[in-house]
Amino acid sequence: MNAKSSQPLTIQNMFSKIAPRYDLANSVLSLGIHHLWKEKLVKVSAAKAGESVLDCATGTGDLAIRFKRKVGRTGKVMGIDFCSEMVALAPAKATAENLDVQFQRADVLRLPFSDKSFDIVSISFGIRNVADPLKGLNEMARVLKPGGRLVILEFGQIQNPVLGKLYQFYAQKVLPVLGGILTGQKKAYEYLENSSAQFPCRENFLNLMNETKSFSKTSYRSLSGGVAYIYEAIKI
Ligand SMILES: C[S@@+](CC[C@H](N)C(=O)[O-])C[C@H]1O[C@@H](n2cnc3c(N)ncnc32)[C@H](O)[C@@H]1O
Repeated sequence: MNAKSSQPLTIQNMFSKIAPRYDLANSVLSLGIHHLWKEKLVKVSAAKAGESVLDCATGTGDLAIRFKRKVGRTGKVMGIDFCSEMVALAPAKATAENLDVQFQRADVLRLPFSDKSFDIVSISFGIRNVADPLKGLNEMARVLKPGGRLVILEFGQIQNPVLGKLYQFYAQKVLPVLGGILTGQKKAYEYLENSSAQFPCRENFLNLMNETKSFSKTSYRSLSGGVAYIYEAIKI
């Protein structure tokens, strides 16, 4: 609960509180591995010069910036997030690299773009946080051009029981304490572990993607033994 309003802490205000330390916490808690996962996602998307990309739930813009490096001056990248405090940090990061990336505040559940606008739509560590993931997937499908690619990076569950136990110890005992020290928001990192442990992964997430009836060639690959997953699909 939020002490001042006695309202439940929403996803939006949870991210507004951790925004200033989000990048630092990400790099420390993942030992920098999230950069490699994001680089892999861009590679899997096969993004090329001149393409248009929408990065949903862009946060502080890391993935959008990576896409811009790939699509170049002739390409267009838009990053959206519904948390002003997160997305407000993104433009300076792009400008520091002399990259022209557009950022705006918007909700994945009501994307302010016309149908069939983008070659690639991405979302990293966002779909788990979207209140209605199926509706979010439908919105992402709507703005993709036919033949366009959807690429998703998300936490999941490790299949190997020994590795799973080790990771569970880290995620349940170490991560909330460290996350709490780094951001002052221990609850946010307890939520991270709980939501990741429950969020559908592998075939279960593919089933959700297939429920939209908007995608072909849905597939997944696991990263770091199943700590995270990349999902891919082609818009029909
Ligand atoms: C864990 S962060 C991921 C940020 C970034 N994509 C990354 O990989 O570092 C999750 C983000 O999802 C955003 N988010 C959650 N639900 C959303 C929605 N319905 N519309 C837009 N953004 C949303 C949050 O504001 C937050 O910035």
